[in-house]
Amino acid sequence: MKNMAKWITSPIDPEYSVVTFQTEFFPKKEIKKATVHASAIGVYTFSLNGARVGKGVLAPGWTSYPKRVQYQTYDVTDALKASNTLSFGVGSGWAVGHLMQTTHSYRDQIAFIAWMDVVYADGTSEAVATDASWDVYTNEVLFAEIYNGETVDKTAEIRHLGKAVLAADIKTRLVAQEGEWIVENDRITPIELIRTPKGETVIDFGQNMTGYVEVTIQGPRGSRVLFHHGEVLDRDGNFYNENYRLARNEMTYVLSGGKDVFKPAYSFQGFRYIRIEEYPFDEVDLNSFCAIAVHSEMARTGRFRCGNEKINQLYHNVIWGQKSNYLDIPTDCPQRNERLGWTGDTQVFCRTAAINYNVKKFLNKWMNDVALEQGKDGAVHGVVPDAPNARPKRISAAWGDCACIVPWEIYLAYGDKKLLARHFPTMKKWVDYLHSAGNEEFLWLQGLHYGDWLAMDAGEDSYVGATSNDLIASAFFAYSTELLIKAGEALGKDMSEYRTLHQNVRRAFRAYFMENGMPKEEFPFTEISVGGRAPVDTVRKGVTQTALTLILHFNLCNDDERPALAAKLVELIRDFDMRMTTGFVGTPYILHALSENGYTDVAYALLMQEKNPSWLYSVTHGATTMWEHWNSRKEDGTFWSTDMNSFNHYAYGAVYDWIFGVACGIKPLSPAYREVSIAPQPNKCLGFADTSIDTALGTLRAHWYYKGDDVYYEFEIPAGMTAHVTLPSGYKTLLTGGTFSLADKN
Ligand code: BGC
Repeated sequence: MKNMAKWITSPIDPEYSVVTFQTEFFPKKEIKKATVHASAIGVYTFSLNGARVGKGVLAPGWTSYPKRVQYQTYDVTDALKASNTLSFGVGSGWAVGHLMQTTHSYRDQIAFIAWMDVVYADGTSEAVATDASWDVYTNEVLFAEIYNGETVDKTAEIRHLGKAVLAADIKTRLVAQEGEWIVENDRITPIELIRTPKGETVIDFGQNMTGYVEVTIQGPRGSRVLFHHGEVLDRDGNFYNENYRLARNEMTYVLSGGKDVFKPAYSFQGFRYIRIEEYPFDEVDLNSFCAIAVHSEMARTGRFRCGNEKINQLYHNVIWGQKSNYLDIPTDCPQRNERLGWTGDTQVFCRTAAINYNVKKFLNKWMNDVALEQGKDGAVHGVVPDAPNARPKRISAAWGDCACIVPWEIYLAYGDKKLLARHFPTMKKWVDYLHSAGNEEFLWLQGLHYGDWLAMDAGEDSYVGATSNDLIASAFFAYSTELLIKAGEALGKDMSEYRTLHQNVRRAFRAYFMENGMPKEEFPFTEISVGGRAPVDTVRKGVTQTALTLILHFNLCNDDERPALAAKLVELIRDFDMRMTTGFVGTPYILHALSENGYTDVAYALLMQEKNPSWLYSVTHGATTMWEHWNSRKEDGTFWSTDMNSFNHYAYGAVYDWIFGVACGIKPLSPAYREVSIAPQPNKCLGFADTSIDTALGTLRAHWYYKGDDVYYEFEIPAGMTAHVTLPSGYKTLLTGGTFSLADKN
């Protein structure tokens, strides 16, 4: 009985230690069905008669806590006995722990709520629910915090702290779990025990990831295993974790004396390496350690392989970027004191995400929080769920535009009109916000934006690139409006008002930012929304790779202007030694802008580029996930920075949507791939490319390979899907339901 349950808390503030809320239950008769529901302000674990229940970890997940918190449901019918102890450990989690520099981000103290519905075989029922009669105990977890790690003491004496105290101030709405379960996925054994030049003992798991390390060990009672996590070694081969900023990522396990299995239950880390600082024996036994990758449970839908091992590694890194950052919410990174639902990163990567995995439920849950946190005026912040008092409060173009981009990409991938209809008001409010945000009706000028984040064209050390923020913001105004129109039309709405708005925005954009079919050279400097590291070159530019990319890809130019704009883009790339200068804003689209305008060869050259900045730079420097900054590790082995240097940031992994959509050539023409275009653009540098995606109709696969100069194609089209195939020679055919082999001879 949900409404019988009360939020309860501990009589003594546990600060960052875990407490256990406990009650007993004695069934009166034969049980037909028993279901437990639980939630927390913090994160909780559920044990019944001493055994963990459910496949989930880090429940109840992360939502916009002041507005709603999820509860999980567990069927315990078969686990109940004549006498039962229900215990729930609760740690600080996202709600009570640190978020960026803020402590106790949502509430000062953890809280818990649960209820059990028992239906007896005779049709009668009984309910158990949290109230002030529950007991509160200390826990063997003496410290737990998302950023800082966990201390588990198997020798800890468990003390009764008293009866639970009601937490009547909690008014948040309880909602049934909407997202996927967060679960333990891959188990990864160490590949090497390293003794570093500094004399540190380091274990290498060979893969950067998100999760935790399980330690199975028997040693003297009270002895400890203590370790820190790191993503990379420094250039001398020593352990490095300065890029974690204030996040300690420290694990301490105190041994019971018997055989112990340790792993955290209230925190997670981002890491490839651990540095062992305390260990009960002289020799570290690698067999004691196993890394467990933790992320939301999503079905894998996409696969890719080609004849170039570096591109295969890049794809591997994209997949691991997603695994590492789709942990209940889409995050920027999993390791430093951030791990937030950055809206820009999410929109940049969501198309790729939906090719790789089924992310419908996952992104829908997050979008519902975007909707809840959207301002009355339509504003969407830099991070969702909110991180109180943190910098992300800003409302920035390309970040807030997640409001339109994410729902549209979910719709394209899965074709669910109900979801599109649910998110349509959020899309519309955002466009209305854009309409009123700027001091010009149809432009967004002088906003406080993140700009072309981490682009390289305003000085090596700048957080923001050279492209005019006004230009970026106004271009996204047009793009979001266009997506809103498409969404409205898909839902059968009259979008004429927004079509007019789009025309006006496009016209205003062209008048203000362009001249003779080209962007203007310079624009007024507007403040840039970064704490430090302002651009060395403060001139805000129009003729940049990012600006040209946006103008071409968002169709802000006329068709007769395309050749010159595209040629200019290519010229800037050539002038920069066939490299990109783009950041978060331009990078996702630059290859598309090139291939849409006859420069697929240049797109391939960028894809295959290995010098910094490029996708393969990180690959050739040992990356196993995507890096935040193009040269997070510089050529000389030093690091780009300590404060904005994650080695597990998926944003640049968006390049896979070009590999899938253009190199392999699969694009949905109608939502959920019912009708697709298959127009591969092969290139010898890949040798072959073989990709597939599991759609609702079945697996769609496109494969091409070279024999000499000739290219051969194999397509697998599920029944019910219509594929419009266009080969580079211009040959066109319509395929449906079957496996097809074609040759395209030059
Ligand atoms: C995050 C980014 C984010 C950016 C916006 C950073 O701290 O890690 O990925 O989009 O801030 O400024």
